[in-house]
Amino acid sequence: MTKHRQLMQWVEEKAALCKPDQVVWCDGSQEEYDRLLKQMVDAGVAIKLNQELRPGSYLFRSHPSDVARVEDRTFIASDTKEEAGPFNNWRDPVELKQTLLSLFDGCMRGRTMFVIPFVMGPLGSPYAKIGVELTDSPYVVVNMRLMTRMGEAALHMLGTDGDFIPCLHSVGVPLSPGQQDDAWPCVPVEQKYIAHFPQDRSIWSFGSGYGGNALLGKKCLALRIASMMARDEDWLAEHMLILGITDPQGHKAYLTAAFPSACGKTNLAMLVPTLPGYTVETIGDDIAWLYPGKDGRLRAINPEAGFFGVAPGTSYQSNPNAMRTIERETLFTNVALTDEGDVWWEGIGQAAPEHLIDWQGKDWTPDCGRPAAHPNARFTVSAAQCPSISPEWENPEGVPIDAMLLGGRRPNTVPLVVESKDWAHGVFLGSIMGSEITAATISNNIGQVRRDPFAMLPFAGYHMSDYLAHWLQVPNWLNEQVLPRVYHVNWFRKGADGRFLWPGFGDNVRVLAWIMSRLQGRMEALDTPIGLMPKPEDLDVSCLSPVPDLDQLLRVDREAWQQEAALIKKHYQALDRLPDELNKMLEELENH
Ligand code: GTP
Ligand code: SPV
Ligand code: MN
Repeated sequence: MTKHRQLMQWVEEKAALCKPDQVVWCDGSQEEYDRLLKQMVDAGVAIKLNQELRPGSYLFRSHPSDVARVEDRTFIASDTKEEAGPFNNWRDPVELKQTLLSLFDGCMRGRTMFVIPFVMGPLGSPYAKIGVELTDSPYVVVNMRLMTRMGEAALHMLGTDGDFIPCLHSVGVPLSPGQQDDAWPCVPVEQKYIAHFPQDRSIWSFGSGYGGNALLGKKCLALRIASMMARDEDWLAEHMLILGITDPQGHKAYLTAAFPSACGKTNLAMLVPTLPGYTVETIGDDIAWLYPGKDGRLRAINPEAGFFGVAPGTSYQSNPNAMRTIERETLFTNVALTDEGDVWWEGIGQAAPEHLIDWQGKDWTPDCGRPAAHPNARFTVSAAQCPSISPEWENPEGVPIDAMLLGGRRPNTVPLVVESKDWAHGVFLGSIMGSEITAATISNNIGQVRRDPFAMLPFAGYHMSDYLAHWLQVPNWLNEQVLPRVYHVNWFRKGADGRFLWPGFGDNVRVLAWIMSRLQGRMEALDTPIGLMPKPEDLDVSCLSPVPDLDQLLRVDREAWQQEAALIKKHYQALDRLPDELNKMLEELENH
């Protein structure tokens, strides 16, 4: 138990508001985790998988309306709409708090309120932050145990007067005495609220039990709230993986990569190189906090302790490290169940069995015309189980970053790789990023390209122009000699036949190899209107069959880029008060 007066007071106050039957302080122990899982199995909310095939692993099925983040119901309640900017849903903080206070009043009746103290970042890191989540969802508790450092360790770090970020969560479905609970309680989409209050840096989430809506340490704290803190304190909170790569000569580099949701971060972070002599180590797969180190270099920590990864498309072929990570002690959500009690999903690398139970609990056969797993089905697993996890992944000082990658799903126009001319041009490349919308978001526009600067469109907690201006400031905090270089990559360009031109996955190391040689200053690049690019002969495509069409992959089509520039202009116009420097770079692109 804690002696932190302010924390105890806050918990008491929120318990009085939500009126749960009981309040349970989580200690983060294995015993507590096992007990909650057993309770959920007994209640029919979780399915224990075949313990020989998938030891220590469980399956959950969410409500069909609660399968991904809800961007339309995500709110930033800054004092003014201006502060939240054009891309966030703004609400007046006083009105929104009133609405939430009435929604949360009595919302936990008939349930338990769990108190989850958690640390984002390696224990003892000067860069780590502490949050406390109050939730009525035992599913959230067990997921938070894998995704964060949770329980006693967090209380210990908090001490008697440490700062914490208050996170209040409820599925929003109180139970009257004797009422039978739903398997996945939640409220209809239009009644959900994922709310952020910059004034007291608090998070209030109501009505969803899924992913980033409910595991509040992730997108809400480590990105939206952290991005505001980073703006005020000169650091960066980014939607980025972190990896270490060693080349055959033994040179080591650390890279980050910002790709939008379901665009390949987990895969790149765990890459198994197809070029001999390279090794890749994983530090994080979704979020990076980047600080100016004492050595003048930009250093990155992974605030998370686990992976909440996309299941469909994950196979021993595409991502063997992920497959090995999830062989045991894993929580699966919305994947299909085999008759043997194991999991299955589209793209798992094995033909669908004759019969499955699909993600909605219905019988499924290969000819039934529906996917068996939801496209945003996920696994939750401790990062420590990953075979490629880096020995540096919990270094409290983080790892020094040499290059930052940006990218998205662009079926046309955008070449395989481009290097920025300098830092400001790198920020320009980040500002114009676009990607096809994926199933990670509830949306009617899946597949349409939308602008997503630095993959932070749904996650920057303040005005996007101010966020870009903040990025332009980064060189002021660092030693200029060791400023990371910025690259834009696109694994998803398609040929006329609609197929991907680039093999992707383990073969992405071929692009990383070119980047490594650029970092070491041993490779010339071609100067193009959009940045520096490899000569086709400088990309190692040995042993690839079919040989990828590098002409198409590296083509900078003038007409397509004129059209692109017109789209970027529209995007820029939506961004009032954009830094002038970026407008100038767009003009240069237009005039080329
Ligand atoms: P979030 O967890 O939502 O932030 O996603 P992510 O960026 O970590 O994406 P992830 O690595 O889980 O990949 C999502 C989907 O993209 C999976 O279905 C992958 O199989 C697919 N994918 C990943 N890398 C590649 C690639 O290099 N080429 C192709 N064609 N597909 C890829
Ligand atoms: C994403 O959508 O970028 C995710 C999954 O990483 S969630 O945690 O649900 O936001
Ligand atoms: Mn993500």
